[in-house]
Amino acid sequence: MELVLEKNNKLRGNIFVPGDKSISHRSLILGSIAQGETRIYNFLNSLDCLKTLECVQALGAEIELGKDNSVKIKGEGLYGLQEPKDILDVGNSGTTIRLLTGLLSGQNFYSVLNGDVSIRKRPMKRIVEPLRLMGADIWGRKDGQFAPLSVRGNKLNPLHYTLPVASAQVKTALLLAGLYITGGTIIKEPLPTRDHTEKMLEIMQADLKISPSEIKVMGGKELRGTDIFIPGDISSAAYFIAAASILKDSQITIRQVGVNPTRTGIIEILKKMGTKIETLNYQIKSNEPQADLKIEYSKLKGVEIKKENVPFLIDELPLIAVVATQAQGKTVVSGARELRVKETDRIKAMVSELKKMGADIKEKEDGFIVNGPTGLQGAVCESYNDHRIAMSLAVAALLAEGKTIIKNSECIDISFPGFGKTLQKLI
Ligand code: S3P
Repeated sequence: MELVLEKNNKLRGNIFVPGDKSISHRSLILGSIAQGETRIYNFLNSLDCLKTLECVQALGAEIELGKDNSVKIKGEGLYGLQEPKDILDVGNSGTTIRLLTGLLSGQNFYSVLNGDVSIRKRPMKRIVEPLRLMGADIWGRKDGQFAPLSVRGNKLNPLHYTLPVASAQVKTALLLAGLYITGGTIIKEPLPTRDHTEKMLEIMQADLKISPSEIKVMGGKELRGTDIFIPGDISSAAYFIAAASILKDSQITIRQVGVNPTRTGIIEILKKMGTKIETLNYQIKSNEPQADLKIEYSKLKGVEIKKENVPFLIDELPLIAVVATQAQGKTVVSGARELRVKETDRIKAMVSELKKMGADIKEKEDGFIVNGPTGLQGAVCESYNDHRIAMSLAVAALLAEGKTIIKNSECIDISFPGFGKTLQKLI
């Protein structure tokens, strides 16, 4: 499928965006191993999250997906899952494979996980190595570096571990394994990452101690099923926040967006660049903060993004490259090597496609440099089958003179089904 977009002068109106992807994955996994019923509201019914749903169903979880994006799970407790009869297919979802590998390491059965071409290229050593230190029995290509992965569930031992990369997926995989370990598993992060797992474990009454320097989980305690209200995904809202920031005379409101401080890096950076963003109707639901965000166009200036800022806006960095083309001066992103091991190499992809559109952007080993402002021209762009590249280029297309064609745009459904319709509401 091709997404064809033309220049658009401004965005105006009110929208909602679909539920948060990270929280949706976690709600299914934790709901499946909790005791009693978990009801999920505003679940993200997207390809990635449906892969997690299919996997936990294949593991024996009883799940009903309602028409209104609600989900009901009848959890049977920590040891309620069963050996799957077939290979678990995670599709394109890194979150699914990494989180489930952690969960499956502590079960009393055997399972195999595989995914698409992109998944089979993504680094798995980062989870396999610490899980093996816990005593997990995991195999994969190149000694566990790449999927397919097979896991023979085992009795695991507590681990004190400092993550070599700031990754919420790795942290979560270890926390899930830790739920099956008698004794305390302690995890330290090089930089704080999104903490949705910890927040959900808290409302499910896990034995968890969180301090600024480490997270400790005491395993063996059953989780309690609960109601989970999922806020709108700030990573999906980000495309419209960014578009309103760079299209003159724009003013939009996005309702009920998750504003967990481990995810709001995009808001902080855009504010620093000059965007006017107001946070209204702040409230906490299911231990997660949400608010309405009002965004208004303003003149922007370049900004420096360093390693310590990266985890809080990792998925929004391709979009920042687009915004930076409209900012006065230089924008430098450093310490973002992780972008090279996402669904595609997101540094290479954005540099190549924005150059086609006329941007002044240079590749760095660990990020990129953009000099702005520059006018953009419509072009025929590759999405590299990466949802975040496709949507970031869609924002660039709204700025560009003439027509932009984004190839293989169906990948948008990985995280944001209905992206095009939502955009239409604001045009
Ligand atoms: C995610 C964490 C991030 C992010 C991904 C979702 C999660 O990955 O890029 O889209 O749900 O935990 P890393 O934790 O590997 O950086």
